Amino acid sequence: HLGFSDKEYSNLGVNISSSEEEILKKGDIITQVGLPSEENLKYLRENQILIGVLNPYLNKEKIMKLINKKINNFSLEMLPRITRAQSMDVLSSQANLSGYRAVINATSLYSKAMAMMMTAAGTVAPAKVFVMGVGVAGLQAIATAKRLGAVVSATDVRRAAAEQCESLGASFIMVDDEDDAEDDSGYAKEMSEEYKEKQRQLISDHVKQQDIIICSALIPGKQAPTLLDDDAVKSMKAGSIIIDMAIERGGNCTLSKSGEIVDIDGVSIVGDISLINGISPDASNLFSKNLSLIHISEPT
Ligand code: NAI
Repeated sequence: HLGFSDKEYSNLGVNISSSEEEILKKGDIITQVGLPSEENLKYLRENQILIGVLNPYLNKEKIMKLINKKINNFSLEMLPRITRAQSMDVLSSQANLSGYRAVINATSLYSKAMAMMMTAAGTVAPAKVFVMGVGVAGLQAIATAKRLGAVVSATDVRRAAAEQCESLGASFIMVDDEDDAEDDSGYAKEMSEEYKEKQRQLISDHVKQQDIIICSALIPGKQAPTLLDDDAVKSMKAGSIIIDMAIERGGNCTLSKSGEIVDIDGVSIVGDISLINGISPDASNLFSKNLSLIHISEPT
């Protein structure tokens, strides 16, 4: 489905095997997108190196088995997000593409134009796009929606996001709070109930006017924060689109469902868990580049 043939691999000198058992037993360094399946874990042996998005928060039991077997695990999503490690940052490479794809998918579902058009027959109003959560995915969603001609606004709990949004031409709204929500590693902290209520009130009028909302707010290791409740969705116009990119972690919208498009009075809420599949050759290329730029030194 990626469009790469076996021949292209063998031309590069790759030995192809259809047996996962053989590969896991033979390899000194195993690279995977995720973890091997439960039944294949037994083929791994001491001192092998396993690199992938291992998701220790969700796979605690499997990871403990690997640690007990003395497998050296590198979970790429746990890399510090420092400039030096940027080339290996799978979260950034994949989130960037997902943010792009989220807007493309929203555009194809949206039945009106994205850009403003002034014609002899009248003016077509531009779409209003609101991005909630402005990390890597959110910033790419803003950039893509701007390129398509939409009027874009965004919100986040980290103050640093304001300047980044504005530099992409989006307006920024956030709760005026004394504490900055950014922790030492650049991630958002979970907000207090009082803050969440203020945020709900702040965005409620804004949400009503939007045509497309891209939800991409996440908190590391936690369920995604709820940003759009049932009332917020019901306040939107028929024909509006919500893409809930946070669905894998429970979603930012109370009405989104994993793997489904839910229709609430004409508002479509998309809970696509595989946005990245819509852009898989690019995702695969960037992921392989992330992996190939890792340098593992011999233990001293
Ligand atoms: P993420 O995927 O963990 O979260 C997405 C966004 O959701 C974040 O901007 C977060 O502040 C926001 N968010 C969380 N709770 C929210 C709420 N209640 N309401 C609204 N927004 C909420 O973030 P991502 O994309 O992994 O980026 C995390 C940080 O790492 C960012 O500060 C980013 O700039 C930084 N980063 C730094 C890199 C570097 O090389 N220096 C590379 C990549 C990311």
